[in-house]
Amino acid sequence: MDIQTKLPWVGTTIFSQMSQLAQQTGAINLSQGFPDFSADQRLLSAVNEHVLAGRNQYAPMIGVATLRQQIADLTQNCYQRTIDPELEVTVTSGATEALFVAIQAVVRPGDEVIVFDPAYDSYRPAVELAGGKTVHIQLTAPDFRPDWTAVAKRVTANTRLIIVNSPHNPTGMVFSAEDFAALQALVLAHDLFCISDEVYEHMVFAGAQKLSANCFAALAARTFVVSSFGKTFHVTGWKLGYCVAPAALTIEFRKIHQYVTFSSYTPAQFAIADMLEQQRELVHELAAFYQEKRDLFQRLMASSRFTLLPCQGTYFQLADYSEISDLADVEFCRWLTVEHGVAAIPLSVFSKQQQSAKIVRFCFAKQNKTLEQAAERLCKL
Ligand SMILES: Cc1ncc(COP(=O)(O)O)c(C=O)c1O
Repeated sequence: MDIQTKLPWVGTTIFSQMSQLAQQTGAINLSQGFPDFSADQRLLSAVNEHVLAGRNQYAPMIGVATLRQQIADLTQNCYQRTIDPELEVTVTSGATEALFVAIQAVVRPGDEVIVFDPAYDSYRPAVELAGGKTVHIQLTAPDFRPDWTAVAKRVTANTRLIIVNSPHNPTGMVFSAEDFAALQALVLAHDLFCISDEVYEHMVFAGAQKLSANCFAALAARTFVVSSFGKTFHVTGWKLGYCVAPAALTIEFRKIHQYVTFSSYTPAQFAIADMLEQQRELVHELAAFYQEKRDLFQRLMASSRFTLLPCQGTYFQLADYSEISDLADVEFCRWLTVEHGVAAIPLSVFSKQQQSAKIVRFCFAKQNKTLEQAAERLCKL
């Protein structure tokens, strides 16, 4: 068949490839970002209760009311921003859906969209499917912080949208107040829209400040803030997320969302709402929980020949392996998985240029014993 592909450069993602290779070889999987431990028992019981109570039909298109109210309360609680749960909150099937829909809502054919590389892999395909073009700005080791003066120089008359992600996957970089202020100034100066991908918002470690586009009123007025309950409650497989955006943007967002998924899994929405209402402290304890895991992994790796890069947030740790091997990072990850039984993700695949800097990403959202076993293998290299 003569199919003219819309995404000629897209194949099976490296995340699927590495997870599959880890499964085939029995390697410890520190590649794809998901926990290998259970979510809170109360959340699992709550979802069961809602299933058995018969809450199994379509949820409202914009999300279950109690969950939207909890999202508004959480936003107030964490960032002191008052939002209207009727007009400014939409529940989605994971952050991925929210990102896709927000991009379709504002990007038109010929528009340019600024993204920072390394970047989460769903931004570029969504922009191209909307007929837009991504403009890639490379962030560099060790701190991966944007140079905002350089960013301003990449804005053209066609620039429509800027996508930011803090805390940042894969680098663990967290925006400072100065970064958000510079972003806000840029957005206002050029009438841009912004997507702030904040799926790791509750995993910010000591030394960095927990901030959001929600903290900056003028920025928030032009921004889709996207988050994910999969990350916050250790249930990535539930694919439940949300988008907070001003009413005018939310109207456009919902026009598209209703034809992409219409609504998301009802029992999970009720169960997450229960948790936010009754166990809100779990959200506030998440940073300490993951900081302990980061510190454990860093201690375990101290005697290895990897050089660990700074990690201020998320559940990812970058590691430079140039003392161990001359292989390019994709080959290094295959070798590491097959020969040494630990799967990681090469950093280069997160950038359009795909240049290997001899850095890999490990996910430390794992049980301590998994991290200990992995580190034991990695320290032998
Ligand atoms: C930066 C970033 N954005 C979005 C997502 C997608 O989140 P969800 O699983 O809720 O679709 C991820 C998941 O890994 C991510 O790392």
